[in-house]
Amino acid sequence: MASSIPPPEVLKNPPNIPEKQLFGPGPSNMSHEIRHSMDAPLLGHLHVEFCQIMDDCRVGIQYLFQTKNPLTFAVSGTGHAGMECAVMNLLENGETFLVIQNGIWGLRAANLGKRLGLNVQTIILPEGSAASLEQIREGIIKYKPKVLFICHGESSTGVAHPLKGISEICHENGTLLLVDTVASIGGTEFDADALGVDCVYTATQKVLNAPPGLAPISFSEKAVEKIKNRKTQCVSFYFDALELGNYWNCFGEPRRYHHTGMISMVYSLRAALAAIAKEGIENEIKRHKENIVYFHQKLEDAGFKLFVEDKDLRLPCLTTIRVPEGIEWKAVIDKLMAQKIEISGGLGSTLGKIWRIGTFGINSDKTKMDKIVSALKDATFSANSKVN
Ligand code: GLV
Repeated sequence: MASSIPPPEVLKNPPNIPEKQLFGPGPSNMSHEIRHSMDAPLLGHLHVEFCQIMDDCRVGIQYLFQTKNPLTFAVSGTGHAGMECAVMNLLENGETFLVIQNGIWGLRAANLGKRLGLNVQTIILPEGSAASLEQIREGIIKYKPKVLFICHGESSTGVAHPLKGISEICHENGTLLLVDTVASIGGTEFDADALGVDCVYTATQKVLNAPPGLAPISFSEKAVEKIKNRKTQCVSFYFDALELGNYWNCFGEPRRYHHTGMISMVYSLRAALAAIAKEGIENEIKRHKENIVYFHQKLEDAGFKLFVEDKDLRLPCLTTIRVPEGIEWKAVIDKLMAQKIEISGGLGSTLGKIWRIGTFGINSDKTKMDKIVSALKDATFSANSKVN
């Protein structure tokens, strides 16, 4: 019998996938090695060779986060999946979740908490700023939360939130510290164990230069204890950290099937972690920090104003620039895209006010930065970018 729906015409042609310079907030460009790591043949998700690759990734993630936490693995999903996995496991219905909201990611965490029936409280701050230790102490004493959420790299504003001294306040008050490092890991200092972080997650498509699709995550002993003492089961099977921990061999028990692992993505994660191990995490961070000073100076010399005024709060891998008065922000983005250069507009409340330029991993490079500044300057100050 002939099928009633014919094969789609569009699928007869190959897709259009041009090579672009990805200087938005992610995904960033892949290195040759990471890209080709995914050409390897598929293995089964419980084959001995694939299990070895997962074990290699686990130690690589521990290195990335600077932690000895046994419960360290990668969630199959984007950075958002990391957030959902963290919040769903660390908290249960009715518990208090305190969120520092200085951009879109705090807003998202608060929204997720409400969906899960948590008692969500927020410390709301102006865009481009971070919470002081006094504000955090006040919030923790007032709300007595089970978990405090902070986004280390707020990609909607370009702020790197300071983390020193926060876990001490949390732990004195029975609160766990949860940190989102999606846009910061590898680009600025982060040491989970020294900072006393109880749960941290990130994503593969920023400084790691791998495709989006995996969210490395790690839970401290205190976090594991809280999870093991839950009164109710984690609401999601897919994101259940103890089930995932078994599949990722975090407990030294025989692995059980949980879900079909993202085979080729895990190859790319291993390649990305190997590249960081080869450069050395401290060298990678130093490179981002040195290059960003150069980039910011070049932007200022070209007449641009940076959005984050406090230099100490600027992310070394994602820059936010104020859209100059009278300039049509979208027209500039479109002009750059026509040259196959991606930069991005604002996100959430910064939409229309700023441009965001990610210089993640291999894209943190002075030659590439020179090209971006020159292209942005041409696109901004040429006649047809003015608001009509
Ligand atoms: C995504 O992470 C974004 O900031 O747009």
